[in-house]
Amino acid sequence: MKRLAIALALVLPLATLAQAPLPVEPRTPPLLLGAAWYPEQWPESRWDADLTLMEQAHIHFVRVSEFAWSTMEPSEGNFQLDWLAHAIRAAERHHIAVVLGTPSAAPPAWLTTKYPETLRTNSNGQKDGHGNRQQFDWSDPKYRELAARIATKMAERFGHDPNVIGWQIDNEYANESYGDADRTRFQDWLHAKYKTLDNLNARWTTAYWSETYQDWRQIPIENNYGNPGLLLNWRQFVSDTWRSYQKNQLDVIRAHVEPRQRITTNMMGWFDAYDHYTVSQDLDFASWDDYVGSGQLDPIRNGATHDLTRGFLRKNFWVMETQPGFVNWHSDNNILNKGSVRAMAWNAIGHGSEAVEYWQWRSALNGQEQYHGTLVGADGTPVPLYTEVQQLGVDFDKAGPALAGTTVQSDVAVLQDYNSRWAINWQRHNRDFDPVNSLMSYYKPLHQLARSVDIVSDIAPLSRYKLVVAPALNVLTPEAITNLEAYVRAGGHLVLGQRSGMKDEDNTLYPQRQPGPLASLLGARVEEFYALDTTIPVSGVWGSGPTTIWAEQLGITSPDTKTLMTYGKSNGWLDGQPAAVTRQVGKGSITYIAASLDEPTMLKAASWMLKESGLTPTLPNIPEGVDVALRSGDGKQILILTNYNPDLRTITLPNAMEDVLTGIKSSTVTLPQYGVAVLRMN
Ligand code: GLA
Ligand code: GLA
Repeated sequence: MKRLAIALALVLPLATLAQAPLPVEPRTPPLLLGAAWYPEQWPESRWDADLTLMEQAHIHFVRVSEFAWSTMEPSEGNFQLDWLAHAIRAAERHHIAVVLGTPSAAPPAWLTTKYPETLRTNSNGQKDGHGNRQQFDWSDPKYRELAARIATKMAERFGHDPNVIGWQIDNEYANESYGDADRTRFQDWLHAKYKTLDNLNARWTTAYWSETYQDWRQIPIENNYGNPGLLLNWRQFVSDTWRSYQKNQLDVIRAHVEPRQRITTNMMGWFDAYDHYTVSQDLDFASWDDYVGSGQLDPIRNGATHDLTRGFLRKNFWVMETQPGFVNWHSDNNILNKGSVRAMAWNAIGHGSEAVEYWQWRSALNGQEQYHGTLVGADGTPVPLYTEVQQLGVDFDKAGPALAGTTVQSDVAVLQDYNSRWAINWQRHNRDFDPVNSLMSYYKPLHQLARSVDIVSDIAPLSRYKLVVAPALNVLTPEAITNLEAYVRAGGHLVLGQRSGMKDEDNTLYPQRQPGPLASLLGARVEEFYALDTTIPVSGVWGSGPTTIWAEQLGITSPDTKTLMTYGKSNGWLDGQPAAVTRQVGKGSITYIAASLDEPTMLKAASWMLKESGLTPTLPNIPEGVDVALRSGDGKQILILTNYNPDLRTITLPNAMEDVLTGIKSSTVTLPQYGVAVLRMN
């Protein structure tokens, strides 16, 4: 189909194409290799040379225009999109599809000069100014009007363009605004939510420190230290406002584009300035920007971040940006080892990505990011990494058909919740208690044993999972309680980690001990929590090991709740007390782990969890340091192996499998460091 579109494009004049779109859809392969390209930074005469080099690297798409507002609308209402149409046609001649970015992350100077109310106010009360990016106020109506207008112009012009395959709204939502108008909108939002001040005052316990409000206009913005109810509501307002900020553009784009042009925004992994489940829900697919920054790739943590992103909409996602070797924004911008850029891309695919896009193709000759890694140098010729990315392009073309229609299918879910992360981070109590590290301490052994793990919200459908683990689920909303209880009662196996079930949706302490409303189901409760300054021994059915950072003393309230682990000699309070308990509930179970366990003990705990849930380890005989990813669907099962060891590893497979990258079928695979095999299991 794509070839037909290209052939026609050569004979039809450009104007005809723009007005009378072709009734063909571009072919988009199942695995897409991309680059961030900025045609507005270069003379049109240069484009063909760049696109030729991209085509030779098997690049399938470019993302363009996400910072090009001053080129697309050089003065108010003066829309100039012909250059972009030319760039799209030029890409098409090289069989390269286009993702269009709306430019709202970079307002032009004329806009913020004429409408200063569109500029954001920092948390210290100062107005941002022109000269960098993201200086806009995400809740300002005028800014939204102007952002929607340029998005509309783009969508009208390119919504039926056969070579446009998708849209990115804005770029990396990050900075909220703290101005007077923002505060008024926050107060109005609170008014709509709580209805009366009496209700708000009661739910936030504002009698504390005479915080009681007599007027909605008295309510301040706090983003770091303040009433926990106020803090949590501010973050929820920030999230809702990013959602409506996005919807403002999304609606006008959707009104004009064909549904095959799918819409996303590029998110940032564990970044927590807003609730990603709230903001994702209106998008067609999720995407994120995957940067290692300094050091080398940790395939497990990076894999978990892919799983997190896949969990936003519970389907395949894209890596919208990743580093071509190195970045410019870290204190130490080392390059990734030779071979590991390709391995990193396969890590993404293994965890359910459909695309990997390099930021950026070529550095602007001036501008803030001159030192960032690229695929071609300032002279316009390939840098050494180019051939590695080219090999990846060849890989994607070979492996695409095998991976088409597949995704990651997991029996195990780890729950992730923004309310809980915020609530803990505002009051860590032990500065080393990091909710993401806590999640990773469960994820890592579960990934090692089960291979595929989903990371989803606490209100996601859970019935497909045999095992659900909720590390540090500090805030339990009524929806989450209902979801978790129903899961256990239907035969599911739920494991709660430390600090779970302490607070409600207002960040208010439950008037029951942890895990709050789930304590009666557990038949146990947390008698007290302790921030640790020493190491405490813990032992039981998972062997023995140390606990550090945090420990909770459990008390059993039901005769059928069993102790799994017990604290040894410690601060006196914990001596001999339960450190992990479990209770059967019909065919299901609920377990609470009150101690932070070290890696070997956590591995045994994870092994127990699998067994309790009727699961057996998947592909247990693969050597350590070889990353294992599985994708299935459409009657296919694909195994992706990547060797992160510094030397060769030979892997014995359960049966002979064809490596779609080499065409070789064998029951053993030998991989060098960063070597990848993509194997058909059936
Ligand atoms: C001080 C204050 C109290 C309370 C305690 C907490 O003593 O007077 O209101 O904040 O600290 O330790
Ligand atoms: C982010 C941005 C890009 C670029 C890269 C550099 O991901 O979205 O515009 O600044 O960082 O690493």
